[in-house]
Amino acid sequence: MAATQVPGATVASIMSHPVVTAAATETVAEAATRMRDRRVGSVVVVEGDKPVGILTERDMIRIAAAGADTSNDSLSEWMTANPDSVASDEAVSDAFASLAEHGYRHIPVVDDGVLVGLVSMRDLMKIAQIQPVERAAAEMPKGLEGVVVADTAVGDVRGQEGFYHYRQYSAVDLAEKRTIEDVWHLLFNGALPNVSERDDFIKAIRPLRTVPDEVKEILPGVAGLGGTDAPPLDMLRTTVSTMGVDLGFRPWLDISPEELYQQGLRICAVVPTLLCALYRLKHGMEPIDPHDKLPYAANYLYMMQGEEPEPDHARAVEQYLISTIDHGFNASTFTARVITSTGADLAAAVVGGIGALSGPLHGGAPSRALDMLDAIGTEDKAEPWLRDAVERGDRLMGFGHRVYKTDDPRSVMLRGVAERLGGPKVDLAKAIERKAIEVLADLKPGRQLYTNVEFYAGIVMDTCGVPREMFTPTFASSRVIGWTSHILEQAADNRLIRPSANYSGPPPPQPVPDAN
Ligand SMILES: CC(C)(COP(=O)(O)OP(=O)(O)OC[C@H]1O[C@@H](n2cnc3c(N)ncnc32)[C@H](O)[C@@H]1OP(=O)(O)O)[C@@H](O)C(=O)NCCC(=O)NCCS
Repeated sequence: MAATQVPGATVASIMSHPVVTAAATETVAEAATRMRDRRVGSVVVVEGDKPVGILTERDMIRIAAAGADTSNDSLSEWMTANPDSVASDEAVSDAFASLAEHGYRHIPVVDDGVLVGLVSMRDLMKIAQIQPVERAAAEMPKGLEGVVVADTAVGDVRGQEGFYHYRQYSAVDLAEKRTIEDVWHLLFNGALPNVSERDDFIKAIRPLRTVPDEVKEILPGVAGLGGTDAPPLDMLRTTVSTMGVDLGFRPWLDISPEELYQQGLRICAVVPTLLCALYRLKHGMEPIDPHDKLPYAANYLYMMQGEEPEPDHARAVEQYLISTIDHGFNASTFTARVITSTGADLAAAVVGGIGALSGPLHGGAPSRALDMLDAIGTEDKAEPWLRDAVERGDRLMGFGHRVYKTDDPRSVMLRGVAERLGGPKVDLAKAIERKAIEVLADLKPGRQLYTNVEFYAGIVMDTCGVPREMFTPTFASSRVIGWTSHILEQAADNRLIRPSANYSGPPPPQPVPDAN
């Protein structure tokens, strides 16, 4: 980012002040609360007017990861002592150089030993805004591929390595070792829960799964719209919007971070119930209320199928759900963050995410991969079928990925889950996968096309009795946790997302023809 060369601009003209401060004797928890309430990314630790340390959001993640006792540990134990600083009359470009060189996101501004302000990457981005846009626009690839548009501590994808993570943990390891409630806690609160935190979290979310009576009443009407093949995500979109109105959600700018967090819990908890109720109503069945005793995944299958699932089916679906909670800055996550950046309410941002996910290029393939297996039928027909399809220019469903140019780690994990479940479809899928990769390597050399998440997702869900029309909705039910984590993060450090476009129409201004 060579974006901060505004002639004559000094740090004083862009710094934030007054600064959010704390005493070294205060606890980490007190500082975290202050950061959250004041919606800032750091606190400067002071003795009188003098800065003696700094604690940032990044430190908070480090502290959470270390499992520290934040309500007892004092800031002096965790802060960066004697932080570098800049003077208020320094050029903005020098402050930028200092931030960029050291990887800092915040530097105290100090004149004669006295703290007078704080300059952050965010302040510098404000200056970057007034750059002429032509150059920036010309550099942007279509589809924003590879463009970094935000900082996030929620997670990331490393496509070349075939690795993705939620906060600091491998998402696949989490899916192998933890429950979805634990991972939800990790994403919302920044740390995996200990035993008592887990109990508290489960107690908090269980009652939130219930659909309010006023919304329950309108579900049959929504499920009756659009005939039997109305897309479930469209019905979900409608009812999440209704939930937001019913629960009195307001722009997050007008509510406290705690209230926004509670709204996030509510929407994530209720989405599986809404999906199952709409599915059952659509097929002439009575909706089933959430089960008091069942955890997330088992309850999801129970509300869909009407009976308590086999434990290995519940666990397999849970692993799928965990593996799809978040996946970098994909289209629906970006959409949710853009909507949040306007200050709009949480339901608006989730509805936007669902809208983006409903497009076939994003959320729409797991049932198509299974349709392909059905169309092939038996192993001996695989090679000619796949060859014909690729030669015709068709895409093999469940193969290829924009980011992964090696094995998609989710497909590797789900292949294992499918093998554990067993069954004839799994054997056929493995045989077709082998052939498909050979055919793609032969007919599309150098394109690095491997199995993606959707291929085995379909097999796992089918084996666990999830109907095909519920595949993408199942994906949505866990992805809403990821969107909401991003919504909370965006709100905690917001800047309106408002890019520019390169105008490519006829040269303006043309004379407006007279109306006649
Ligand atoms: C996921 C997907 C959209 C990513 O596409 P992308 O990164 O934009 O890749 P491109 O469209 O640039 O494709 C690059 C080349 O690989 C080919 N290709 C990509 N995926 C393919 C597939 N599944 N089957 C056959 N060929 C494929 C393209 O035809 C193209 O070939 P070309 O160079 O001869 O034109 C794409 O791989 C796809 O359509 N897969 C099938 C649908 C699917 O499984 N979706 C779920 C994704 S999780």
